[in-house]
Amino acid sequence: MRTAILASGRGSNLQALIEAINLGRLPIEIVAVGSDQLGTRALKRSEDAGIPTRVFPINRYPDRRAQEEDILNWMRENQVQLLLLAGYMRVLGPDFIAQVNFPILNIHPSLLPAFPGLHAQRQALEYGVKVSGCTVHLVDEGLDSGPIILQEAVPVLAGDTEESLAQRILEVEHRLYPEAVRLFVVGKVERFGRRLRILQQEGLE
Ligand code: GRF
Repeated sequence: MRTAILASGRGSNLQALIEAINLGRLPIEIVAVGSDQLGTRALKRSEDAGIPTRVFPINRYPDRRAQEEDILNWMRENQVQLLLLAGYMRVLGPDFIAQVNFPILNIHPSLLPAFPGLHAQRQALEYGVKVSGCTVHLVDEGLDSGPIILQEAVPVLAGDTEESLAQRILEVEHRLYPEAVRLFVVGKVERFGRRLRILQQEGLE
C-alpha cells in the first residue's frame, strides 16, 4: 500500500513505522514524507531511510487552501493510497479531507475524546486525570474526532511533568501506531457506523 506521511517535527513515530516495515511487521511502503517545517528531524530520518521528502512551508502560500492543494497534488503524483499523520501540527481543512478518497490515520497522545488538540499531555496533567494514554484514529473533518482504531492507557504518576508523561506515552505510541496501521491495512478493522471493531481479537472492540 503506497503510503505518504506528514510530520512536522521530531519524527519518532515516523521512525517507529519505518522500523516496523523493515522488520517485516507492517505491509506498507512509505513512498513520500511531507512536512510543513524545514529542516526537521522527521525529514532527516526520511532521507536517511532513502524516502523522498517534500516541504510545504505555509508562509510560501497565499493561504491554507493553496498549501493543501499542493499536498493533494503531491499525493496524486505519488499515487498515494494511505496517508499517515505522525506529529503533523496543522489541522487539515474540510476541503482537503473531502478530496482525499483514501484513509487518513493519526496518532494522538491522549485517550480521546479526552484532551483533543494541542498539548494533550499538559491538558491531562492540569485536569488531574490518573490515567492517560494514546489513540490511533481515522481522521475526519473534526479535531481528533474520527473513529478510533486502537487505544492504550498509560498511568499518570504523582511526580510527572509534561515531559515525563509525554515520554511514557511516546513509548507506547511507537508500538501502538504500527500495530494499528497493520490491523487496518490487512483488513482486520471492520466499521459499524463510527465504531471500529478489530477482528479476531477476542474481547477487544
Ligand atoms: C506524538 O506525541 C504524537 O502523538 C503527536 O505528536 C507527537 C509527535 O512526535 N501527534 P514525533 O514527531 O512522532 O516524535
